[in-house]
Parts: sequence; structure tokens; C-alpha cells
Amino acid sequence: MRKLRKAVIPVAGLGTRFLPATKSMPKEMLTVVDKPILHYAVEEAYEAGIEHFVLVTGRNKSAIEDYFDMQPELLAMLEKSGKSAQLELLRDLQPRAGSISYTRQQSPEGLGHAVWCARDIVGDEPFALLLPDMVSFGDRGCLAQIVETYNSTGGNVIAVENCAPHETDQYGIVGRGAEIGTGFQITEMVEKPAPGVAPSNMYINGRYILQPEIFDILGSQTRGAGNEIQLTDAMARLMAKQAFYGRQFNGRMFDCGSKLGFIQANIAFALQRPELRNSVMEGIRSLVEPDGMLTGT
Ligand code: G1P
Repeated sequence: MRKLRKAVIPVAGLGTRFLPATKSMPKEMLTVVDKPILHYAVEEAYEAGIEHFVLVTGRNKSAIEDYFDMQPELLAMLEKSGKSAQLELLRDLQPRAGSISYTRQQSPEGLGHAVWCARDIVGDEPFALLLPDMVSFGDRGCLAQIVETYNSTGGNVIAVENCAPHETDQYGIVGRGAEIGTGFQITEMVEKPAPGVAPSNMYINGRYILQPEIFDILGSQTRGAGNEIQLTDAMARLMAKQAFYGRQFNGRMFDCGSKLGFIQANIAFALQRPELRNSVMEGIRSLVEPDGMLTGT
């Protein structure tokens, strides 16, 4: 089995659902508590043993490159003023020199096209794919869980979760076959099927391990749902030649591309932090309790 070393993270999306915040700032830099959502994906990938990151960026995304770069003036200032905790935090965040590559998706043609833009940097080896809008919450990251499955099955592995039956047209949906160890065989994949014709209510939650043969297929992929080049369509074609496995994520993925998911993620991650938990609980209670500020609104 080919060792998994690289992760592709597409960060070229326009973020129109978060305008005006995303007018001059990449949506991947929106913060959940005090970290950009992109940072959560990078940490999740490190936890799963990833060594090299390929970020597929686009226009107006330079804040992302700056975020992962060294900031000597800031470090010197923190050192001088004795702010050792913050200094430590920034040093921990700093990726090893040369461990992040950037490439640009020159026009927004869909997720499949964004992934295809990473082909030369990934080369002929399997890779993880993390969609950073989807923020993994739980004791163990979603990518680490599917890596565990991959280590016993090989092939291509996708994390799934259940959605409400009426929500199938928002996601890629898989059909479930035989159980295999910690996962199951995928029998079918459809991008955004209408409720009623979907093969199940198990949706692709934004974490994948893919074999490099997907790149050739993406190169000739025609447009699908939303008139975009869809990764799910290419995976469905690759399934004719290679095995695909699913694993139910034991945790919860917050869709930070939606306002509700983003707000829920902020609350969940804040409640998980010991230094914030009580005050945040108190703060929420003061808004919603019977005589709170927001009652009756
Ligand atoms: C993309 C994928 C879809 C997946 C979803 C998860 O869709 O195409 O298969 O279920 O991410 O967030 P998008 O959210 O870009 O429409």
C-alpha cells in the first residue's frame, strides 16, 4: 500500500454566503473562537500524520500565505514584551519550512477542477483531501479515523455522516454495501441527488483519501451538478477500476460554509475550552433565559 504523506486543501472558493465579511478576506480565515477555520483543517491533518500540504488558492487569498509564514517583527515584539504564551502559540503554528505548497485555481470551475489543479504537486501518490469549510469536532479528527480504515483497506476512503432525507440535494451521497472492518464498501456515489432518488441519506462530509488515478479522470471530467466539474462524478468513474470505502465519522462535522454551522462551531469549540466554558454558558443563558435580553424577540 502506498503511504499517505500529502494533503490537498482547496481554498479558492469565493465565500459569497459570508458577504460582506468575505469581500476583502478569504472565507477560510473566518475564525472559530480564535483560530481561522483553515487552521483546524491543518491541525486535523497533522494529527493524521500528514507531512506536506498543497493549498489550492485563488485571487485575493494572499492572507492565507501570510498566515503560515514567519512574522519576525511580531515574534520580536512578543519576545520583548515577555508574552511567552503567545510566542509559543505562534511557534507551534509555524509549519516546517518547505512543507506547504501553493498552486492557483485560475477560475472557479468546481471542486473537481480545484483538486485537479494539485496534480503536479501531488504526483503519483495517494493524498488526503480536506474541505476546510467542514470543521471536525470530536475526540479524534475525522481524517485520522479514515486513515485508520485506509491502513487496512487501501484503495479510496471517504468519510460520511447522515443527513436529513430532505437535505440530500446539498451533498454528495453514497450507496452502502458490505461491511469491511471499520468501514463499508461504497456501491454508488451521486452529487446532490434530489430527495427521493438518493441512494441513502449518507453524505460525503468533506474528508477523503484518494489514489492519484483520480487526476487523469478529472482531466476529462465533463460538467455536472451546478454546471461545475464535480469531484463526486470523477470518483464515480474511478469506482469502475478501484475500490471505494466509506467510514461513518464518529464525531461531528460543522459546515462552516453555512451561517448556522459556523455559529454552532463557535459555540461548541468555546464550550470545549476550559477557560471559556463557564463564562460562555453564562453568556448564552443571560440572552435566552425567561427574562433575558432576547426573550420574546
Ligand atoms: C462539496 C462536494 C460534496 C460534499 C460537500 C461537503 O459540495 O461536492 O460531495 O458532500 O462538499 O461539504 P459543496 O459544498 O462544494 O457544494
